[in-house]
Amino acid sequence: MLKIKVVLASVREGRFGEKPATWIFNKAKAREGFDVELLDLKDYPLPRFAEPQVPAMLGGNYTNEIAKKWAAKVAEADGFIFVTPEYNHGYPSSLKDALDYIFGEWNNKPVAFVGYGANGGVRSVEQLKQVVNSNLAMHPVPSTVNMEHPWNFLKEDGSFDTTHFEKAGDGMLDQLAWLGEALKAARK
Ligand SMILES: Cc1cc2nc3c(=O)[nH]c(=O)nc-3n(C[C@H](O)[C@H](O)[C@H](O)COP(=O)(O)O)c2cc1C
Repeated sequence: MLKIKVVLASVREGRFGEKPATWIFNKAKAREGFDVELLDLKDYPLPRFAEPQVPAMLGGNYTNEIAKKWAAKVAEADGFIFVTPEYNHGYPSSLKDALDYIFGEWNNKPVAFVGYGANGGVRSVEQLKQVVNSNLAMHPVPSTVNMEHPWNFLKEDGSFDTTHFEKAGDGMLDQLAWLGEALKAARK
């Protein structure tokens, strides 16, 4: 079983992010071979990063108590799905802090992306691909899900009509499974 963590990046009051996060969580959970957990960054309220030491130099011995808890959770994972909005053509600072506070726990693991926003969160996801790969040594899954104006798919009863995104989601999860298995074997 691959341990997959779905990371809900938006911590905003009234956030839309719960809808796409719940969708991809349930979709991943329905697959064979995935053991899925939702990680809500609201539950890991890291302060703005201002640590005296570079996390990569600490060998996992972080000092911030929330960072320790976050690191332990990230360490469990064989792969991730980041569910991210786009704020001013970038990804949210909550996610940057979550990435920056720890280091080795991310290394050599795959990450898939569900972006959403007025333009599908495309720029947010593209920026993240660079950040996660270049220094954190993570492996971004090539295909992504980008939900453009996803609030238009809310039905009158408040449910989220995801018909439009299912095919892209399936393809992305296929790639996450493939890369996840390959990297898990390689990490051993
Ligand atoms: C600070 C801020 C900046 C935003 N900038 C963008 C943007 O650059 N591109 C975009 O498509 N949507 C932008 N939006 C709209 C968001 O896509 C929309 O509010 C979305 O619901 C945010 O996700 P959340 O509700 O889960 O936090 C912005 C929203 C906020 C709060």
